[in-house]
Amino acid sequence: MTEFHSKPLDALRLVPGVSRPRRLRRTAALRSLVRETTLSPDDFVYPLFVVPGAKTRNPVTSMPGVDQLSVDLLAGEARELESLGIEAVLLFGIPSAKDPLGLESYADDGVLQQAIRALKDASPELVVMTDVCMCEYTDHGHCGLLDSDGYVLNDETLEVLGRIAVSHGEAGADVVAPSGMIDGMVGVIRAALDGEGLERVAVLSYAVKYASAFYGPFREAAEGAPAFGDRRSHQMDPANAREALREAALDVEQGADALLVKPALGYLDVVRRVHERFPELPLAAYNVSGEYAMLKAAAASGWLDERAAVLEVLTGIRRAGADLVVTYHAKEAAAWLQERL
Ligand code: PBG
Repeated sequence: MTEFHSKPLDALRLVPGVSRPRRLRRTAALRSLVRETTLSPDDFVYPLFVVPGAKTRNPVTSMPGVDQLSVDLLAGEARELESLGIEAVLLFGIPSAKDPLGLESYADDGVLQQAIRALKDASPELVVMTDVCMCEYTDHGHCGLLDSDGYVLNDETLEVLGRIAVSHGEAGADVVAPSGMIDGMVGVIRAALDGEGLERVAVLSYAVKYASAFYGPFREAAEGAPAFGDRRSHQMDPANAREALREAALDVEQGADALLVKPALGYLDVVRRVHERFPELPLAAYNVSGEYAMLKAAAASGWLDERAAVLEVLTGIRRAGADLVVTYHAKEAAAWLQERL
């Protein structure tokens, strides 16, 4: 400090020829010309929560702006998404009845299967992705079949996951997304689909899913909170990143068409590492319910500029290496991006 203060002002100027990165930031046009990361509505996947019944739109309290919808409202939703340039949805179903075996998860007339058909009828071009997991369908809220100690059984659960994926594929899903972190799920689902002539159905694996506190609001939306215990015996420890590469490698070997890392914001290093290790596969990141709720709550208190913060977060997830972003912000972000044009 003292040294600077003692110098005459002109001695503090940059010497001619020195690099000045600010030259390329001077105008909006220059900034957009050199922008490295793009954000566009077709990078987004919008999650939808489907409930039984008709004319039902239930707001999810902890996720302002997100509603559970009945099947008859999906056609209207599809049209809205289309007008915003959003090309993909990820479906979660809330069944009319839950039981220990999660039977509605693969019922031909289950709520999710009906939702897939309704969306495909309304908008054949829309990419319909489905969550393949048992937690919304079991009365205990766990992601698989349990043994007498409440431990999620691996191989017994795999068979059910295969059935769920086939039922989604038969209803018209384009992509199935197993989210349970059950070992071997991708291989079993691929074999089950192919065995039923559903080779066209792609598998987007939640290859790297952490046991995160940020799924809290989702569990209200999907009504799938575990009745006891937690998910730490199958979801990953937030402290581990090398293990993420092992998980991703196993799913690639088993035939995953695309990978997903979840949550996004606390795990951008993991997004980057998976992207670098498997550059040949599309990579998705899930900007989860708790991440959405944080921004919504801060914005509602007037503590953040919502639009700027949301677009910054989504850009950051893309910059880390995600090709696709699963996000509850999709509709508002798409509308803001359209306004910018
Ligand atoms: C499981 C599933 C969960 C989420 C997506 N799929 C919940 C969990 O693992 O407990 C969370 C998504 C979010 O928080 O937005 N079917």
